[in-house]
Amino acid sequence: MTEESPRIAGSRPRVAILFGGRSSEHAVSCVTAAGVMGAIDKTKYEVIPIGIAKSGQWVLASGDTSQWSLSSAALPEVAPSGKTVTLAEVGGEHQLIVTEPNAVPQELGSVDVVFPLLHGPWGEDGTIQGLLELSDTRYVGAGVLASAVGMDKHFMKVVFESAGLSVGPYIAVTDRDWLTDAEAVRKRVDKLGFPVFVKPARAGSSMGISKVDSMEELDAAVEEARRHDLKLVIEAGIVGREIECAVLQGRGTDTPRVSMPGEIAVAAGEHQFYDFAAKYVEDGAAALSCPADMPDEAIARVRELAAVAFDAVGAEGLSRVDFFYTPAGELVINEINTMPGFTPKSMYPQMWAASGLAYGELIDELIHLALTRKTGLR
Ligand SMILES: Nc1ncnc2c1ncn2[C@@H]1O[C@H](COP(=O)(O)OP(=O)(O)O)[C@@H](O)[C@H]1O
Ligand SMILES: [Mg+2]
Repeated sequence: MTEESPRIAGSRPRVAILFGGRSSEHAVSCVTAAGVMGAIDKTKYEVIPIGIAKSGQWVLASGDTSQWSLSSAALPEVAPSGKTVTLAEVGGEHQLIVTEPNAVPQELGSVDVVFPLLHGPWGEDGTIQGLLELSDTRYVGAGVLASAVGMDKHFMKVVFESAGLSVGPYIAVTDRDWLTDAEAVRKRVDKLGFPVFVKPARAGSSMGISKVDSMEELDAAVEEARRHDLKLVIEAGIVGREIECAVLQGRGTDTPRVSMPGEIAVAAGEHQFYDFAAKYVEDGAAALSCPADMPDEAIARVRELAAVAFDAVGAEGLSRVDFFYTPAGELVINEINTMPGFTPKSMYPQMWAASGLAYGELIDELIHLALTRKTGLR
């Protein structure tokens, strides 16, 4: 366990950008990587782009950002390769090694810090963080437990409730619950009252989520969510504005820094809620604004609650905390995202930009936090 990365003071730290990944948010992650690779200060950091194919294979990826942007006709995707990249400790340093069948392994050099730009399961859920911890490698963002809690829409609510945050009515439904007694699940849903939101417990980008207005629609929504995760969360629909805050870990022992809140307003009529198409596909389907037009007192409260949520799950680095702001003025927490959308146009960087921290500076600060953080139990 070392205090400081040995390379910080010397040559440019080598930053491995990890993107793609095995989740259904693969393409979104590629777009994020394009944003970060385009903005990172290359005079200060040496960037090594590592793509993770949908199969899970790590490959040396192109640093050409145009290849990973959304402008191309097809969604960007990391292609598998005959050459596999692995991270291993060699001679006390964290080396990237390229292996291919019947060839001598080739060293790509050492890595000072990994920036996992991965969304969803096998990236934002503690698994990659565990792998990096095992090899004693520094990385940006939340650790193992915080990532796992932030990924699971059931356990995050348990943690939020115990921290005193207001959580809407919900039930958690396991595979066993649904397969052995679907009728009991239907009764519990009936008590929540319609509409309900049926969600895979561990997914993201609104994948697998349906708004359900009556019992007749429930089974289809459950089956759709189960395609993503066999564990589900079913929530009572909350009427309220969608308000979010960007949280950035403080330096040293400082408390978390919280941006001004932003608001997502989904164009009425077109979308039932903030679904995948409204998030990524259709330009203009959702309007992001920051700062959100709220009374000063509510702004202060939402910022305070965002910091509570960040600390409640034990987050580090960055998180976006999302709330519903009800007509009665209540702030009901929806979720925390420990690796939120991070393209220059995404809400998280936009909220920081509106709060005085530009995209490039934000990337620099996150890498600084990771380089100066001890490795060890997290
Ligand atoms: N309980 C709820 N009441 C009202 N709208 C909801 C509720 N849960 C989710 N939504 C809508 O669905 C969107 C996606 O849900 P969310 O839980 O944030 O999933 P994801 O992790 O995929 O972003 C939200 O941004 C919101 O528009
Ligand atoms: Mg969300």
